[in-house]
Amino acid sequence: MYNVIFKRRSVRFFKSDDISKVDMREILRAGMWAPSAKNRQPWKFIVVKGESKKEALALMEKGIERAEKGEGVLAGSPELYVNARFTLKCMEQAPILVFIVNPDGRPLTDTWTTAEKIHELSDVQAIGAAAENMALQATSMGYGSLWIGNIFFAYDELHEWLGEGEMVLAMSFGIPNHHPVPLARKDEDEIIEIRD
Ligand SMILES: Cc1cc2nc3c(=O)[nH]c(=O)nc-3n(C[C@H](O)[C@H](O)[C@H](O)COP(=O)(O)O)c2cc1C
Repeated sequence: MYNVIFKRRSVRFFKSDDISKVDMREILRAGMWAPSAKNRQPWKFIVVKGESKKEALALMEKGIERAEKGEGVLAGSPELYVNARFTLKCMEQAPILVFIVNPDGRPLTDTWTTAEKIHELSDVQAIGAAAENMALQATSMGYGSLWIGNIFFAYDELHEWLGEGEMVLAMSFGIPNHHPVPLARKDEDEIIEIRD
């Protein structure tokens, strides 16, 4: 297991080759078997390829442009725009883009009671677990993945385009076309505190 965990990298350059339906199904199934609060399984995986992927990426570009003009939920973060545009280039190369939506999720802009916030946080944790399961399964099969937070530049556009649930995350999948150098992690002593 450690082998796969350490081997997984965020892949940002992909070959144009597709992932077979059988292999993609295996990766998605790994996501489905993630734990979730009360076994709610608060997810739907929307697999986007070909023309649909072009549509989604055009909307993402629109979202970034809006942010650059000072509009949208992530406006006012100019240092992030260049990074978002680079992410878009990575997503263009990858043959498959998977959105995870929470069918019962609530809009980011909602106001929450504490109980509702805990419910939502639990669902987001479960979705993160599903995504990591997929990333690890993809790695173990020789595929690469990229987790994409930059979709939120186009939160309004993509949310409407997806047409259901609450968009929580997206991940690109494909065959790696580079060998990313592992990025350093913080010092273990800084991260791990043992109280006994
Ligand atoms: C929630 C989340 C959002 C991320 N969003 C992006 C993104 O939009 N673009 C990108 O290039 N990488 C994105 N990443 C990848 C991180 O940059 C990467 O995981 C981190 O730098 C560590 O590198 P590694 O995954 O190769 O270990 C995201 C990762 C996570 C967990």
